[in-house]
Amino acid sequence: MSNGKHDVIGDIIRFLENEKEMYGPFSIEPEAKLRPSESTLNPEAPKQKTDKGLAEQRGDEQKKNLASGSEDQARTIQQKLANCSTLDELHSLCSASELLKTDLEGTNLVFGVGNPNADLMIIGEAPGFNEDKEGEPFVGAAGQLLNKILRAIDFSRKDVYIANILKHRPPDNRNPLAEERERSLPFLLRQIDLISPKIILCVGKVSATTLLDKDEALKRMRGKFYPFRGAELTVTYHPAALLRNKKWKRPTWEDVQAVRKRYDELGGKP
Ligand code: URA
Ligand code: URA
Repeated sequence: MSNGKHDVIGDIIRFLENEKEMYGPFSIEPEAKLRPSESTLNPEAPKQKTDKGLAEQRGDEQKKNLASGSEDQARTIQQKLANCSTLDELHSLCSASELLKTDLEGTNLVFGVGNPNADLMIIGEAPGFNEDKEGEPFVGAAGQLLNKILRAIDFSRKDVYIANILKHRPPDNRNPLAEERERSLPFLLRQIDLISPKIILCVGKVSATTLLDKDEALKRMRGKFYPFRGAELTVTYHPAALLRNKKWKRPTWEDVQAVRKRYDELGGKP
């Protein structure tokens, strides 16, 4: 049905890629174009300040990418994402996307699992060994605990939708890099919009700081509901953290009870 549309976009992408091969990377972002020539023309120009906030640094990073020619890529991926009107279409796009990969080779896509119409969405960090093997988020030890936590507030895994910030496993189970989170985020945001949950529960610091775009301690971010893309987003500890340290169990229990209460208040599906 949307094949015709995709073909046109495919043609445009191939055209732009051919152009780039002939003429080199180009950008129509005026700021990104201006910056380098400014400093070339005026070597005395003051150096950029370096004491910037994360959000601002993120903006700079994006501009750098734009300037280095990946703006086409960013724009075409935004177009492709906007064209995904179902989770299946988004799944196919994710399967084909190099942007989601980490530098660990041969990993499987871990797209997300659960009810596509869920009113509660759980977002973790990144797939680990078991998740990569199964192609499903939260199936290892942390996943078993997550299932128990969900059961304690009367949800089953099938009621909710579970995804991660990254859709591929990072090497050595290291934390996702800022750059990896940046590349994956547009795909996750589209996934969130397609599911359109009433509540998003971020488990762990990586998930919360990435979606809220602020670098605060988990302790400071939990206990609130933040407006987020038409939903309410809240934060609690990562189940893997609970397995390591019991002191977080109590606050997690409080957080998930608040999730259940808010879910019912907002008229979430029974
Ligand atoms: N930890 C996560 O954050 N996500 C998973 O899918 C598994 C473990
Ligand atoms: N610190 C974290 O980074 N995450 C948790 O879930 C708990 C403590």
